[in-house]
Amino acid sequence: KAIKVIEVKSEIGAGTRGASMGVDAIKIAGLDFNSRFFKRHKTVEVPNENHLLLEASGSPYAKRISGILTMVERVEKEVSHTLNENQFPIILAGDHSTAAGTISGIKLAHPKSRLGVIWIDAHSDMHSPYTTPSGNMHGMPLAMALDEDNLDMRVNNPDQETINYWYQLKNTGNIAPKINYRDLVLISARDMEKPEEYLLKKHKVKNVTTTEVRKRGVERIVIETMKYLEDCDLIYVSFDVDSIDPTISKGTGTPVPQGLTEKEAGGLISRLLTYKKICCFEMVEVNPTLDKENITAELAFEILIKASNAYQNET
Ligand code: ARG
Ligand code: MN
Ligand code: MN
Ligand code: MN
Repeated sequence: KAIKVIEVKSEIGAGTRGASMGVDAIKIAGLDFNSRFFKRHKTVEVPNENHLLLEASGSPYAKRISGILTMVERVEKEVSHTLNENQFPIILAGDHSTAAGTISGIKLAHPKSRLGVIWIDAHSDMHSPYTTPSGNMHGMPLAMALDEDNLDMRVNNPDQETINYWYQLKNTGNIAPKINYRDLVLISARDMEKPEEYLLKKHKVKNVTTTEVRKRGVERIVIETMKYLEDCDLIYVSFDVDSIDPTISKGTGTPVPQGLTEKEAGGLISRLLTYKKICCFEMVEVNPTLDKENITAELAFEILIKASNAYQNET
């Protein structure tokens, strides 16, 4: 299948400004290589208007949630359209809340398929407005896909308007839940809050640590992960660049120590993309305003090219 790049310059789900510039930063990193990677691409317009960024509109427990819903629905539409056209979507986005739209789009295009998710991220992004420590919705896309409120661990009191929007986010495409805990694999997740720890434990979610990746090697981790997800019909890979260690790259809003090397991340992704079941790839959270000399975007571009070459060689 031909790759189609879907650009989503999102940032209203993040707590730090600048992630919307990540897509362009990756493109600039690619200029020197005269790459044809961006040849077939589509931009999804996002509500990043200044007033939306400035006003912490709506609830402190789900900042800018109306804009997030608009964006998620647009991403959903574009991803399902791309899959229906029989193309392979690679989503390049800013903040990670877009992943909820991506998962929704895959389910819309393939409603009967059992969907697995490989989430390469320092975080588990499983908060709801009832549990979030920040109100930033890039910490919530997996909870949206899992139809999870996590009321057992409730600490916040969102208002009714927020609850209504949250309900819509969980029920996009009229499918909820869109994925099961059993069909989720986290890689390098290492900065979770109590409510997230609770869910991971309760549902025995598989989390492959950075140490395991390093010890056992990329090859074996990929084989085991695909084996673990063998009952899934389709698999989506979501890559948050904060999975990479901050000593290597600083251009991301929520850096966490003990991360992957660029070689480990690139190796995992390019190996994964050789499997036919992998139906979609997303890369998020490059924030060039926090970086020096565009290092994170360069690294992201290298990973993208490596992954797209691996994909094309095997299909
Ligand atoms: N767990 C923290 C929060 O909810 C951090 C989330 C970071 N998410 C991300 N996609 N970078 O605020
Ligand atoms: Mn993250
Ligand atoms: Mn934290
Ligand atoms: Mn994330």
